[in-house]
Amino acid sequence: MSPIKRINHVAIVVDDIEKALHFWRDALGLEVTHVEDVPDQKSVVAFLPTGSSEVELVKPTTKKSGIARYLHKRGPGIHHICLEVDDIQACLTKLREHGVRLVNPEPIIGTGGKRIAFVHPESTHGVLVELYELTPQEPQIRLARARALADRALTQGQLVAAGVLSFLRGLRDFRDAEVFDDDEE
Ligand code: CO
Repeated sequence: MSPIKRINHVAIVVDDIEKALHFWRDALGLEVTHVEDVPDQKSVVAFLPTGSSEVELVKPTTKKSGIARYLHKRGPGIHHICLEVDDIQACLTKLREHGVRLVNPEPIIGTGGKRIAFVHPESTHGVLVELYELTPQEPQIRLARARALADRALTQGQLVAAGVLSFLRGLRDFRDAEVFDDDEE
């Protein structure tokens, strides 16, 4: 079996999520299933599933992050592709054996406890490649973060454009009893 399970997502950096949705959602017909704040990466991300993979529209929320500098320097476009792997440690070991340059020589812990690492574009013929080893908690954590962003957007009225806001409003009413095991009410 291949150690690579699938393309998990393609990340596209944009300066305006709402404008980007005119193409990806309205014209192309993809559905936006999540919009979430990713404080670690100082960005807001909209998720648009395409079968078993996703397009992720990433908007930096600061001017100082790596992804913000990338946007400033090159303009909107593909930022990275993410490959989901069974065993990230084994994958990194194998890449090292092949002399591949790694941005993260050891996995770093991403949201939901998932282990991630980036491979340097110098070794991939110009494409930033992200590797993911997922944890089973991922869907719950993703929803919790989406709701936190919805609360913030509603109380502060900033961060996201109008179309995204309406999506977030819907999300607040989302009945999450089936997704969360614990009983909040
Ligand atoms: Co990614």
